[in-house]
Amino acid sequence: MPTLFDPIRLGSITAPNRILMAPMTRARGTRGHVPTPMMADYYAQRASAGLIISEAIGITPQGLGWPYATGLWSAEQIAGWRRVTGAVHAAGGRIVAQLWHMGRVVHPSFLGGAQPVSSSVTTAPGHAHTYAGTRPTRRRAPCAAMRSPAS
Ligand SMILES: Cc1cc2nc3c(=O)[nH]c(=O)nc-3n(C[C@H](O)[C@H](O)[C@H](O)COP(=O)(O)O)c2cc1C
Repeated sequence: MPTLFDPIRLGSITAPNRILMAPMTRARGTRGHVPTPMMADYYAQRASAGLIISEAIGITPQGLGWPYATGLWSAEQIAGWRRVTGAVHAAGGRIVAQLWHMGRVVHPSFLGGAQPVSSSVTTAPGHAHTYAGTRPTRRRAPCAAMRSPAS
């Protein structure tokens, strides 16, 4: 029977062991959602994992509502993540990106007051994280296609 320390094939990745690092949002990016040098150190220190799954990374400003989390929509963010993946590879590790769209959990304060983009027309349960602390989630307006002609 294989042990945690035996290699495993995960799609196109061959991991030297079966210890996978779970995605963990650390909120160590800039206010512009750019990865910082500290993040390259953090991930490179964990390169002995069979595979690192990155913290969740926003794919668009409309879908990122977590203070100091990072994104992948701008050239600066991509360059920042390249520094992270480069450091992990240089340390002999493997890393994949977890992509994130937070939908209706994005608070309007991230969007200049605009409603979040979501597939749901109901208010999310719980609260949203903002730069001013936790705030109630906001109901989003149904998109035009979902409104009945009478309303
Ligand atoms: C600080 C912290 C940040 C996390 N961020 C993410 C994340 O970005 N994406 C995700 O899918 N899960 C995230 N999680 C959930 C973890 O990946 C993991 O599923 C969870 O901690 C349960 O694992 P456990 O049963 O070993 O504690 C986070 C957990 C913690 C503690």
